[in-house]
Amino acid sequence: MSEQHILVVGATSAIAEAALRLWAARGCTLYLLARDTARSEAIAADLRVRGATAVHTGSLDVADFAAHASAVELACTTLGRVDAALIAHGTLPEQARCEVDENYALREFAVNGTATIALAGLIAQKLEEQGHGTLAVISSVAGDRGRASNYLYGSAKAAVSTYLSGLRQRLHGRGIGVVTIKPGFVDTPMTAAFAKGPLWASPERIAHGIVHAIDERRAVVYLPWFWRGIMAMIRCVPEFVFQRIKL
Ligand SMILES: NC(=O)c1ccc[n+]([C@@H]2O[C@H](COP(=O)([O-])OP(=O)(O)OC[C@H]3O[C@@H](n4cnc5c(N)ncnc54)[C@H](OP(=O)(O)O)[C@@H]3O)[C@@H](O)[C@H]2O)c1
Repeated sequence: MSEQHILVVGATSAIAEAALRLWAARGCTLYLLARDTARSEAIAADLRVRGATAVHTGSLDVADFAAHASAVELACTTLGRVDAALIAHGTLPEQARCEVDENYALREFAVNGTATIALAGLIAQKLEEQGHGTLAVISSVAGDRGRASNYLYGSAKAAVSTYLSGLRQRLHGRGIGVVTIKPGFVDTPMTAAFAKGPLWASPERIAHGIVHAIDERRAVVYLPWFWRGIMAMIRCVPEFVFQRIKL
């Protein structure tokens, strides 16, 4: 794979950092967009040592919608061309609080859903203008069916997955790839409070899957692969049964 120019939004995420290390080892040119600029500068320094041709950083709190366009514009101008982009930011809202605090629920939906969609739309426009490139976005298996334990997060991810499906169809045949990444349980800071079990994967394993999916321009990837079967079964459970079980 030749040297690529890659933009990563939410670049301080554990999964994003693991993917960035793989791209650095290939000698890619990288642009890290994150709200924690001190942390992204530290990651950038590490990526340079790991072999990246160049690493740039930019600041973006994705909840600041007014800042999206200029942040993406600066990233694309700095990179010169964008061969691949990964949108990786996210939060795991407290579902119980979402049920009683509408403002909190809407803020969390905005970060995980609306902001991701807005950024995907902006980046897709840039890829369209240059006539090539692949956009990958981290959605989640949680978007495949709403569950009592995390349906605010799940509904935001469902919105993202559906948006990407339409975007992929619209851009088909125009040289632009759109990849929907659906991880299952991943051991990252986001899930630090959860007890881990056999279904859990490392961020490194997910990152390998993401980099491969972008290389191959896959459409929808479940990571690890076995989640495709698990979610197919969960989606098949009839609603009158599903509403009685606790997931
Ligand atoms: N971990 C899992 O089990 C799992 C499963 C399925 C999907 N995912 C998805 O995978 C992606 C990466 O998450 P992760 O597991 O790697 O978790 P993580 O290490 O906690 O990363 C989450 C990242 O999102 C960033 N972020 C949150 N709110 C932001 C905002 N307003 N503006 C800018 N950045 C913001 C965080 O930045 P700060 O460092 O500044 O807070 C952090 O870098 C997310 O989309 C997540 O929903 C994770």
